[in-house]
Amino acid sequence: MDAIVLLKDDHKTVEKLFKEFEKAGDGAHKKKRDIVDKIIEELTTHAYIEEEIFYPAAREGAPDTVDHILESVEEHHVVVWMLSELRGMDPEDERFVAKVTVLMENVRHHVEEEEEEWFPKVREAMGRNRLQELGKRMEKAKAEAPADPLAVSSAGT
Ligand SMILES: [Fe+2]
Ligand SMILES: [Fe+2]
Repeated sequence: MDAIVLLKDDHKTVEKLFKEFEKAGDGAHKKKRDIVDKIIEELTTHAYIEEEIFYPAAREGAPDTVDHILESVEEHHVVVWMLSELRGMDPEDERFVAKVTVLMENVRHHVEEEEEEWFPKVREAMGRNRLQELGKRMEKAKAEAPADPLAVSSAGT
């Protein structure tokens, strides 16, 4: 599995969950809670494999992308803290939907920058074999991802 294809597949999975959340009715608190739990799991795992494997490899293999990578880590920082807050929040809390909405805005912006602005540069610089090897490592690393969003390294200062 190619690393960038794997990451884009994750992005699609998350976007599907976002759409489900947006479609859920006003009173569907339990459903929204379940969807947000899945979003937390998917995004924590995704941020973990990017930060542990993909970002460091990209920084080495495509040094021109360093500014994008540093910005991406700061965006992850905000996202994992929001995920952590959502973990303990009552879905009937008046801030719940607002927080998920801002999370979705942040993640959609972040994904667009990865896919449009810098993943293509990494693909060009690193080539097929290296990306396949990284993809394999990331697939395996998913099993080691933490459940706690604040255990992802970008959560720190
Ligand atoms: Fe990312
Ligand atoms: Fe990503």
